[in-house]
Amino acid sequence: MWWLKYLHVTCVILSGAGFFLRGTWMIRDSPRLRKRWVRVWPHIIDTALLVSAILLTIQIRQYPFVHHWLTAKVLALVAYIVIGAVGLKYGMTKKIRIIAWLVAMVLFFYIVLVALTRQVLPYIG
Ligand code: HEM
Repeated sequence: MWWLKYLHVTCVILSGAGFFLRGTWMIRDSPRLRKRWVRVWPHIIDTALLVSAILLTIQIRQYPFVHHWLTAKVLALVAYIVIGAVGLKYGMTKKIRIIAWLVAMVLFFYIVLVALTRQVLPYIG
């Protein structure tokens, strides 16, 4: 399915942009962060992101825990979700939330670089 990667990358852009935006709202203590659609939409986008990811692995016949770059993606994704939740929600102080938000974004870009290079250590080996 030629459109699968476009769907995946579209979800990647929406997910990353949404995470960035919600972080800026977290920093400003904006009430928008607690709005219903702001809490629901990320789940819809991230579900589509994950479903398209699973279908892509089947399409290219490469799988996590078999091919290292996909293992790295899955592990980094789990870390991104956990640390991202600390950043937007569970961090006890704003300093912790901001640091977690920044770390989560670094992880996000690491995942993109892994995808582009198919290497665990992008551009290194
Ligand atoms: C935040 C999470 C994720 C991000 C930011 C992300 C990012 C990307 C990007 C930017 C591409 C396009 C690469 C290119 O143009 O060649 C891509 C492709 C792909 N992604 Fe993801 N991805 C994520 C999660 C996942 C997960 C969890 C899996 C599977 C376990 C996965 C599997 C794939 C596969 C198989 C491709 C196709 C690679 C190819 O055809 O060359 N992705 N991803």
